[in-house]
Amino acid sequence: MMPVALLPRACLLLALSTFTVAQSLVVDAANERSVAPAFEVVDPASTNATAPLFDGETRQFTNAVLKNLTDLQLTNTVLFAFPDVFAKADIELGSAINSTCKTFSDDFVGFPGFVTNRVFNLLLGGSLIQTTPFASPCFSDFGNQDADKCAHISANWHNDSYSHTDDPTSVNAVLFQGMSCVPPSLNPGQITCTLGGYPKMSIRATTVAQVQLAINLARNLNLRLVIKNTGHDFAAKSTGAAGVSIWTHNMKGINFYENYIEGPYKGPAFKLGAGVQVYEAYEAAHKEGVTIVGGEGRVLSMEVVTADGRFVTASETSNPDLFWALRGGGGSTYGVVTSMVVKAFPKMPVTTLMFSFSTSQNVTVDQFWAGVRTYFGGFINYTEAGTYGYFSLRGMGGNYAFAMKPWFAPNMNRSALEALAAPLLDDLAGRLSIPIEPVFAEYDSFYEAWDVSFPLEAWGSGQSRAGGRLFPRSSWEDEAALSNTFEAVRYVVDQGGAVIGFHIAASPGSGHPDNAVNPAWRETVFHGVNLASWDRDASPEEIETRSRRLTDDWGQRWRDVSPGSGAYLSESDYIEPDFQHSFWGEKYDRLYELKKKLDPYDLFYAHQAVGSENWETSELLYGHLPSQNSRLCRKATAS
Ligand SMILES: Cc1cc2nc3c(=O)[nH]c(=O)nc-3n(C[C@H](O)[C@H](O)[C@H](O)COP(=O)(O)OP(=O)(O)OC[C@H]3O[C@@H](n4cnc5c(N)ncnc54)[C@H](O)[C@@H]3O)c2cc1C
Ligand SMILES: *[C@@H]1O[C@H](CO)[C@@H](O)[C@H](O)[C@H]1NC(C)=O
Ligand SMILES: *[C@@H]1O[C@H](CO)[C@@H](O)[C@H](O)[C@H]1NC(C)=O
Ligand SMILES: *[C@@H]1O[C@H](CO)[C@@H](O)[C@H](O)[C@H]1NC(C)=O
Ligand SMILES: *[C@@H]1O[C@H](CO)[C@@H](O)[C@H](O)[C@H]1NC(C)=O
Ligand SMILES: *[C@@H]1O[C@H](CO)[C@@H](O)[C@H](O)[C@H]1NC(C)=O
Ligand SMILES: *[C@@H]1O[C@H](CO)[C@@H](O)[C@H](O)[C@H]1NC(C)=O
Ligand SMILES: *[C@@H]1O[C@H](CO)[C@@H](O)[C@H](O)[C@H]1NC(C)=O
Repeated sequence: MMPVALLPRACLLLALSTFTVAQSLVVDAANERSVAPAFEVVDPASTNATAPLFDGETRQFTNAVLKNLTDLQLTNTVLFAFPDVFAKADIELGSAINSTCKTFSDDFVGFPGFVTNRVFNLLLGGSLIQTTPFASPCFSDFGNQDADKCAHISANWHNDSYSHTDDPTSVNAVLFQGMSCVPPSLNPGQITCTLGGYPKMSIRATTVAQVQLAINLARNLNLRLVIKNTGHDFAAKSTGAAGVSIWTHNMKGINFYENYIEGPYKGPAFKLGAGVQVYEAYEAAHKEGVTIVGGEGRVLSMEVVTADGRFVTASETSNPDLFWALRGGGGSTYGVVTSMVVKAFPKMPVTTLMFSFSTSQNVTVDQFWAGVRTYFGGFINYTEAGTYGYFSLRGMGGNYAFAMKPWFAPNMNRSALEALAAPLLDDLAGRLSIPIEPVFAEYDSFYEAWDVSFPLEAWGSGQSRAGGRLFPRSSWEDEAALSNTFEAVRYVVDQGGAVIGFHIAASPGSGHPDNAVNPAWRETVFHGVNLASWDRDASPEEIETRSRRLTDDWGQRWRDVSPGSGAYLSESDYIEPDFQHSFWGEKYDRLYELKKKLDPYDLFYAHQAVGSENWETSELLYGHLPSQNSRLCRKATAS
């Protein structure tokens, strides 16, 4: 049998069709043993890495491994080749494949069939998962119906995000996934279960070689590539119909360096695998007696597999463009990150404050809003003092409720936080006669304060949709601007929406490195999220009306009072107008240029990611929301 790499082009194209591959390729038992899994252990010293590679990172798919596969005459190894191999051998996979649309699972040509999958799985070392929806045990469609399992899945669907995170495909944003498999008890009328917008296959990745194989296969066959870590993304960025998904959740390595040196930095640092969750990182830091910052922490370097399948280090000195773009440029756009190195900071004490108030027979609607208005008036003071406040505002049937949960003050003792909050608490209890019971708590460490203050959050409702806005300091400049901002927030609650808010600012006073983080963050004193929701049995018309109102009315009012600012892409509107400016401001042009340079194959795609404006889904939900349960195609007007 001839290796495909040596076949003339016409034969190669034939070999791509699932039927012919199935007929022409035989993998014998001896070969199975000799090829699986495909990687070589590279010398860690041969990289630019700023900290030793994890074991899984030393296991790489290289030209030498590829050559071995070809020598074994394993047929379609070319499906896993790097782009330069193609250039050298004058091979082209493209012309049989629809270059307008990503290959779809019902396409005759191009979608991997049984044999390709079998070879793929061998090369991966058995980590290929043929996916089934998380709730499939509730239905007969996948042959795994099980009433007990279904009851468990249904009862824990919203409150146990760990089980969704431990599933290769489950995502939070089920609405945009197409709600193709939600337990019937949570979605009356659901009678069948299909993959919908969930990927067709998933790779449980623990090595760089597995990521490289998946990237090469997806690029060579023009498949839709998905990256799922926890699946929390609001905008369904970690799912996609007919996709091949790289599941990074199990890359859990954690190394601590007490005296780490990189460029001008000298001090403690952690190397964290891509699958490490924030609670695990905080726990590890706590054990070492230091603190690390979740989210946008100071990143010193990252290890990345890029669109060409190559494994590189991104740091200030190695691939600095990529490093710049990865810090703020968004997920699933420039590469698959396998680990990063972050700074650690000294252990710090924290004080928290919680309180709540609501309308009642003693608190009128006007008193209630006057209390919220006093709180808003303090945002400059609160953020300048380096504190963060996380609050909710809800209104139902004329009753309103405010909850501070919590006000979080790092490096501040109780008396200092009491002094900062005193004008507000005095005004509530005094002038406004609103009964409150403030609860202060002091902790020795960030970790203990965080652990007590932030319970696990709810998962996966298809009956709501969120928007968000970063409100700049200038909206607090004078009373008129602040009143307009406050009224725009109140409007949403008066209209039946919920608001989750944060008084929050980028660390005050200090310099920051140049990176792709949204410049709007540097001016922010208030991050607001608004939520529109509807009943389980709401009609499609009702859902469309409420969903459009979120963007066109509530969102527009918020944008009007914060001109030139933007939104936090991880907590924003799925159909944010002018998302490029909202999420990246003046950084966008460079991000777009880098996208073209670093991913000329358009391999990586995510909804509203850099470059995604050139793509569209073939179907819309409720006439206006791109459906991840449909075909992804290049726009006719794409550049
Ligand atoms: C209940 C809830 C609470 C939240 N609370 C907060 C909060 O307090 N603060 C906050 O900042 N945000 C919060 N978020 C938003 C959260 O930060 C984002 O959803 C974030 O993108 C989750 O990242 P993930 O990798 O775990 O999720 P995923 O959904 O798995 O991934 C997010 C995106 O990154 C891509 N991606 C994942 N891993 C990689 C990788 N290794 N390489 C390249 N791309 C990758 C994915 O393809 C996707 O595009 C919350 C979200 C939810 C649902
Ligand atoms: C190539 O195959 C030979 C024989 O099985 C093996 O000894 C060698 O380690 C392989 N090299 C790589 C890079 O996989
Ligand atoms: C690609 O697929 C789409 C969707 O099926 C189809 O409309 C289009 O004509 C195809 N284009 C090519 C070049 O085959
Ligand atoms: C979720 O709720 C169910 C049913 O009320 C309960 O049995 C389970 O313990 C809860 N799980 C978590 C993680 O809180
Ligand atoms: C190492 O750094 C050099 C630039 O100093 C860069 O050209 C090269 O691509 C880097 N290699 C890897 C594997 O990151
Ligand atoms: C309202 O105020 C009265 C008098 O102070 C008090 O007795 C009563 O408990 C309060 N009611 C509520 C709902 O707080
Ligand atoms: C903000 O701080 C200043 C200085 O401490 C104080 O005078 C002012 O009253 C504070 N304003 C609010 C709204 O808390
Ligand atoms: C609390 O912190 C302030 C400001 O740092 C300091 O002046 C004060 O002495 C501290 N109070 C206590 C009780 O430690």
